Amino acid sequence: MNICIIGTGYVGLVTGVGLAELGNRVVCVDIDRDKIDKLKRGVVPFYEKGLDELVKKNLKEKRIFFTTHLEEGINDSRIIFIAVGTPSREDGEADLSQVIQVAEDLARLMQGYKIIVVKSTVPVGTFQLIRKIFTSEKKEGVDFDIVSNPEFLREGDAVYDFFNPTRIIIGIEKGREKVADELIQLFRPLNAPIIKTSIINAQMIKYASNVFLASRVSFINEIANICERVGADVNEIAKGMSFDKRLGEGYLQAGIGFGGPCLIKDLKALIKMAESYGYEAEHLKSILNKNEHQISHIVLKVKKIVGEVLYGKIIGVLGLTFKPGTNDVRSSLALRIIDLLKREGANIRAYDPCGIEEAKMCISDIDFCTDPYEVATGADAILILTGWEEFKKIDFLRLKKLLREPIIIDGVNLLDPEKIRSAGFVYRGVGR
Ligand SMILES: NC(=O)c1ccc[n+]([C@@H]2O[C@H](COP(=O)([O-])OP(=O)(O)OC[C@H]3O[C@@H](n4cnc5c(N)ncnc54)[C@H](O)[C@@H]3O)[C@@H](O)[C@H]2O)c1
Repeated sequence: MNICIIGTGYVGLVTGVGLAELGNRVVCVDIDRDKIDKLKRGVVPFYEKGLDELVKKNLKEKRIFFTTHLEEGINDSRIIFIAVGTPSREDGEADLSQVIQVAEDLARLMQGYKIIVVKSTVPVGTFQLIRKIFTSEKKEGVDFDIVSNPEFLREGDAVYDFFNPTRIIIGIEKGREKVADELIQLFRPLNAPIIKTSIINAQMIKYASNVFLASRVSFINEIANICERVGADVNEIAKGMSFDKRLGEGYLQAGIGFGGPCLIKDLKALIKMAESYGYEAEHLKSILNKNEHQISHIVLKVKKIVGEVLYGKIIGVLGLTFKPGTNDVRSSLALRIIDLLKREGANIRAYDPCGIEEAKMCISDIDFCTDPYEVATGADAILILTGWEEFKKIDFLRLKKLLREPIIIDGVNLLDPEKIRSAGFVYRGVGR
């Protein structure tokens, strides 16, 4: 099958290379010339485990191609995936400008019949908008179907998730079962449950899934804050809960809250979407508020241990990305917390195994270090904000000698408190 992917970011590139690996001929299109130049040379512009090898292999076997010219991508493709970004607008609504731009370009350039598959997370109403853009430009001999196929991959495990999806959702317009069948055929080698439903249901499945994950994080942070007061350990609570199949274990890790490119923006977009349909989603708002409170809670914790006045203190930060396994710092709470500490007058020294270059583009006036020991040198405390496994392997005795005060505030409950305390540190986790 000939396929075009528009938008070669985390979702588009993983989908494109995954479909190429399954034997399809895939053309990936992006407006970012630098990104496309790199990809043509087999260089993946972001870090994602296993992606590099897969891109190189499929380039070599001539199954994947990269271009900035949309026509090159769509001319020979029957199926066109839209995987451009849908970031938050200032008011929380989804910013659809990238999707609209693509729809306008497609409407202008498309010839013959195409199946347009929207992978980007878009609110209800977007498909009517796309259809309107297409039909207003309708040319002789041009026809199309539109399908919703929301993406559930996790950055850091994106390649694994492509080949082992938990489910594939295919949202179609009424009476277009034949279109769904073509996509089912495409995804069949993945051997995953396929749910054929309406477009609106497909969109709501995506939003509800992400918001539910966010709600679990806010929930466990609420429990963590209670644990701190009653003297319980939230990690033990989460472990005890996880054996119940009804509860499961995912997203019950107490810490600084949920960040990243999806959960916050999708939660905000769903709240706004509900509002536009006349409904105040109070429960969803409280999930978001809880997340905001958790950020302040961490800053208060630092002040309580290091000193009420942070002015002139040196805080060593380990972890900048929104989670381990990626160099993505979009909506990283680590950066938000650093910003709050800086406003209090603290000096920040920071290290991340993967995301330093990306963080440099978002924050200034902090010292970026080459390893945790450089971070610790002369610092008044260490604050862990991303749960990288590599931080568990730190030589804590060496670290202690370098610090001005032997304080570790573990914002992600990564370390074993007993081990760290027995090495002579003052240790504070979240809810333990
Ligand atoms: N990142 C995730 O973990 C994830 C997971 C599931 C769903 N999603 C959703 O998938 C969508 C894409 O997310 P992402 O993280 O891959 O975004 P991204 O920002 O990494 O990639 C988007 C790409 O689209 C390109 N682009 C923008 N306008 C274009 C145009 N007119 N033509 C061609 N290319 C264009 C950009 O240059 C960029 O490379 C979003 O809606 C997001 O919510 C993301």
